[in-house]
Amino acid sequence: MAHPRARIAELRAAIMQYNFKYYVLNESDIPDAIYDVLMAELKSLESAHPEFDDAHSPTKIIGAKPDGIFAKVKHPQPMLSLGNGMEESEVDAFRDRVYRGLGTNAVSWVVEPKIDGLAIALTYVDGVLVLGATRGDGEIGEDVTQNVFTLASIPKSLQQTDRWPIPARLEVRGEVYMRTDEFELLNQRLEAAGEKTAANPRNAASGSLRQKDPKITMQRPLRFFAYSIGPVDGRWPDTQWETLAVLRAYGFAINDDVQHCNTYAEAISYAHTWMQKRDDLPYEVDGIVFKVNSLAQQRELGVAGRDPRWALAYKFPAREATSILRNIVVSVGRTGNITPAAEIASVQLSGVTVSNASLHNADLIEKLDLRIGDTVNLKRAGDVIPYIIGPVLSARNGAEQPWHMPSHCPSCGTALVREGAEVAWRCPNVSGCIEQRKRRIEYAVSREALDIVGFGEKQAALLVDIGLITDVADIFALKADDFAGLDGFGERKISKLMDSISAAKQQPVSRVLISLGITLVGTTVSQLLLQRFDTLDALADATVSEIAAIEGVGPGIAQSVTEYFAIPQNRLLIAKLTAAGLQTSGGATRVVTSSALVGMVFVVTGSFPTMSREQAEALIAEHGGKATGSVSKKTTYVLAGSDPGASKTTKAAELGIPVIDEATFRQLIAGDKE
Ligand code: IVH
Repeated sequence: MAHPRARIAELRAAIMQYNFKYYVLNESDIPDAIYDVLMAELKSLESAHPEFDDAHSPTKIIGAKPDGIFAKVKHPQPMLSLGNGMEESEVDAFRDRVYRGLGTNAVSWVVEPKIDGLAIALTYVDGVLVLGATRGDGEIGEDVTQNVFTLASIPKSLQQTDRWPIPARLEVRGEVYMRTDEFELLNQRLEAAGEKTAANPRNAASGSLRQKDPKITMQRPLRFFAYSIGPVDGRWPDTQWETLAVLRAYGFAINDDVQHCNTYAEAISYAHTWMQKRDDLPYEVDGIVFKVNSLAQQRELGVAGRDPRWALAYKFPAREATSILRNIVVSVGRTGNITPAAEIASVQLSGVTVSNASLHNADLIEKLDLRIGDTVNLKRAGDVIPYIIGPVLSARNGAEQPWHMPSHCPSCGTALVREGAEVAWRCPNVSGCIEQRKRRIEYAVSREALDIVGFGEKQAALLVDIGLITDVADIFALKADDFAGLDGFGERKISKLMDSISAAKQQPVSRVLISLGITLVGTTVSQLLLQRFDTLDALADATVSEIAAIEGVGPGIAQSVTEYFAIPQNRLLIAKLTAAGLQTSGGATRVVTSSALVGMVFVVTGSFPTMSREQAEALIAEHGGKATGSVSKKTTYVLAGSDPGASKTTKAAELGIPVIDEATFRQLIAGDKE
């Protein structure tokens, strides 16, 4: 007779498999009677041996048919994120921090590809897979056990091996991902079926694993690489390298490209040769992870915020490509700023098709001497929006056309102006320019401001064009009937929209202030202003010196605020918003939507692909973090976009403060990518 503990494990594994087949696949290869006997045996063994009890035993969860909602799982040990460096010097700085932290250079390293997928945690009790959970926000994830069961590369029971005894309880962590070729096939299949395709293998992997119906997950080409362990109940080897070897022996797929390096020099050189191979790999990799090999040293170094001090992702350098500059188009922003953008012949850059690039301002175009028709070099820094490095002069044939900033607004025809030291040309027709109006409304309803769900760029443009609204306040006078018959507005959509419009009336005054779109007034500043002035009217009456006297608010902001309220229409807008029932008084109330960033202090610098600096600050505050203006020992992260302030990044490097990009920042707050 097998040891009761071994028999319990065996029964659990068998029953979980049967449950999966029965409930998920709707097929069963054993008669009910046998199933019942096995279950009865497990129940009686469990009651005779409560010491082997487990919340995830099939006796506790049997018949848990997937009901479309994933249960939340609290990770017994947080699932960390990874700090990253774009430059070799940042990896060197990481090495120095490791040496300093340990007080020794006696460190060996494990270098691993950073596969672009999603992290999951798999719990094995007595070698039996009992739980699969997504990373979620690192603290709490979702129970995707049924879905995880469909992955062929995830062992349902660990293989016995002489290499290491199977611990009583073990959490294995790793990455669920999709190969690029299989991702492409999947997209073709989805497209043919008229379904939504995924933008990249990472999204496809994440969407596939989080399907409500495991049968769909099963049809998706998901794979799994194990790269570490979580909590373990029992003995465990003392290095990362041996961890991988043991996991391999247990039956997990381990990336073939992992490498143990005795010295840092070896690790860096391996990383370099590796980067060349990037394109030959069958899956997407966005960097190389450096890990301290000794688990004891890892524990000694510990964690800073969400990043382990013993690991770093060396991100791949920006990808460059060459294309043709087809045209330069200008767009009008909410404050009238005219921004040029490049239209380029579609080209692949870091695995993404790119057909636009940012150009920032007219001076830059002149400085680069960019001409329409030029062959241009493009770059994507940190895997975000591409920009033009410059023209390939040797490729010119004389047919290229110089480009000039239009002298008049492309929307309203008003002569453009450029004041003082400003680099941007501006349309001064603040109240009459239709395009500015659309942009202002779009901004006012955005997630960072009034957050009117279902109302975006398209809706703002349409309603302005047909004359239904001229400013954000008009939205609150809209009735369901106004939308009837309009393109894209079905009955359900209208009713949802009406709900979100009326919900927006409850938004705190700080968001109403943000929604005005005053230059330099984002979440942090709006809080500061409203702590001093209780109402928008009081703020509108304030003088430059009164505003500038607020701590944390400079003269530039004070100037911008007073200039805004000097325009009579803007004062009128406050009156209209008040009349429409929005909160225009009541002081500062902070809206915290999550606590992902609690205790973290950010410095935001540079410009970002999909958010303004104000929006970044808004997001920080909404997730419980704090944004400040200068880098100090108290700073947790410097959030840097393109063209960051050099003094800030230098200071960050000096103090060893991690510099993160927008993508990493979004991972921090969303907690989904990992
Ligand atoms: S180690 C404590 N190793 O990258 C370190 N992560 O940005 C956390 N990833 O959440 C994980 N390949 O989803 C590690 N070889 C690898 C990895 C890897 C991909 C992902 C993982 C993690 C994210 C961190």
